[in-house]
Amino acid sequence: MERAEEPLTVYTSEIRQPAVTCHPSLENSTMENLNRQKETVFSLVQVKGTWKRKVGQNVKQGIKGRVSAAKIYESTSSSGTTWTVVTPITFTYTVTQTKNLLDPSNDTLLLGHIRDTQQLEAIRSSTRPLKRFIVMDEVVYNLYGSQVTDYLEARHVLYRVLPLPTTEENKSMEMALKILEEVHQFGIDRRTEPIIAIGGGVCLDIVGLAASLYRRRTPYIRVPTTLLSYIDASVGAKTGVNFANCKNKLGTYIAPVAAFLDRSFIQTIPRRHISNGLAEMLKMALMKHRGLFELLETQGQFLLDSKFQSGMVLEDDRIDPASVSTRVAIETMLEELAPNLWEDDLDRLVDFGHLISPELEMKVLPALLHGEAVNIDMAYMVYVACEMGLLTEQEKFRIVCCMLGLELPVWHQDCTFALVQKSLCDRLQHSGGLVRMPLPTGLGRAEIFNDTDEGTLFRAYEKWCDELSTGSLR
Ligand SMILES: NC(=O)c1ccc[n+]([C@@H]2O[C@H](COP(=O)([O-])OP(=O)(O)OC[C@H]3O[C@@H](n4cnc5c(N)ncnc54)[C@H](O)[C@@H]3O)[C@@H](O)[C@H]2O)c1
Ligand SMILES: [Zn+2]
Repeated sequence: MERAEEPLTVYTSEIRQPAVTCHPSLENSTMENLNRQKETVFSLVQVKGTWKRKVGQNVKQGIKGRVSAAKIYESTSSSGTTWTVVTPITFTYTVTQTKNLLDPSNDTLLLGHIRDTQQLEAIRSSTRPLKRFIVMDEVVYNLYGSQVTDYLEARHVLYRVLPLPTTEENKSMEMALKILEEVHQFGIDRRTEPIIAIGGGVCLDIVGLAASLYRRRTPYIRVPTTLLSYIDASVGAKTGVNFANCKNKLGTYIAPVAAFLDRSFIQTIPRRHISNGLAEMLKMALMKHRGLFELLETQGQFLLDSKFQSGMVLEDDRIDPASVSTRVAIETMLEELAPNLWEDDLDRLVDFGHLISPELEMKVLPALLHGEAVNIDMAYMVYVACEMGLLTEQEKFRIVCCMLGLELPVWHQDCTFALVQKSLCDRLQHSGGLVRMPLPTGLGRAEIFNDTDEGTLFRAYEKWCDELSTGSLR
């Protein structure tokens, strides 16, 4: 049976999460503080099914039984006792690029998330039918629903496919609850029957949130069907819905067990939505990869015209712009996300284009798509970078030309200077008192800046409006 042809990345992240604590992490100063009090470190050892505390940081030697990576720090002072729990949590998920995902001879959709070979063999040799709950974007269902059900029938799966109008306007808790009601009625085994989401970023985000709420965390699988979700929403761990008129205000950082990426879905998305996805790709190019920028600069129109399907004809993935660009976009994205899955580090290059755009996107909804709002934000920031002397006029010109070539908007009348100020003010509040502005410092290079003054922002704004308000370079 054919498996995924190209497992792209296996990703593991370790996160320190204090579960019962007044100390968010045991950094040096906190440790010193604890030491000044009376403090005992306990390791945890499992003997005959029971976990026991054992005094000491490293008790592995001479101990029979399983030693947990978790620690309990007990400190006593005159005011009482505090137990600080430090428990590393590991997320492992796979991102797999595959072809012919809905071909019944390809078992990626059903089994591609299982890494344990013994478990895989046991499932393959069992006659018990698999059970899957699948949520599909309604538009995607109309296009691919019969292929999905044919696939499930051919594989003798017990299934329920739920098509839903997962639009940005419907990206709400109500939609997540609707999914949960249906999941509950259908009944799934939380450990072995992952929920599958097939659709664009909206569908993947809502289903991800629903799954992470169901029984506190039910595994889910992402199958992106837009370019934007292929290179962005399916690669990371974020789930969410809009709330109180704010983008993704409710959500979780729970990675899917797997994301299965098949570029053939992109052939049916409207041209405007390809441009939309190209904006997020351009973001990674500007921040991290000059080669990707140059590829978008020269092959942008071709990618738009061919709808990322060229590989099907060219066959050689190494020179095919669609293969190369998606691969680099995914790899650069994973590089930034893997070490910072829960966004504890607030200095994030992937935030480029996302400082002003959330406010703008919600203000004009549904006029601008996510990537379009991101591009308008990036275009303004390029002017800021130029005003700060980080980019030359020529580099600025090349970037704006590339954006226009990707058929992306570079300016919007609702992106007022007041909106810029409000967005950056909000950012200051939610980013530990620093604005943490990612700005290009060349083509494919970037740094985070905290010292951009109001005058620079305003001069850049005026120039941006002056040069780009007609929607093209003057
Ligand atoms: N979780 C994350 O890390 C993350 C990252 C980036 C974006 N997002 C979220 O993703 C959303 C945007 O995603 P999107 O651009 O995919 O939008 P979307 O989900 O709204 O899909 C865009 C449109 O394309 C249609 N569609 C989807 N697949 C199709 C196909 N194969 N053929 C024809 N039509 C198709 C949909 O019905 C919809 O009308 C935003 O809500 C954003 O917040 C999340
Ligand atoms: Zn985005």
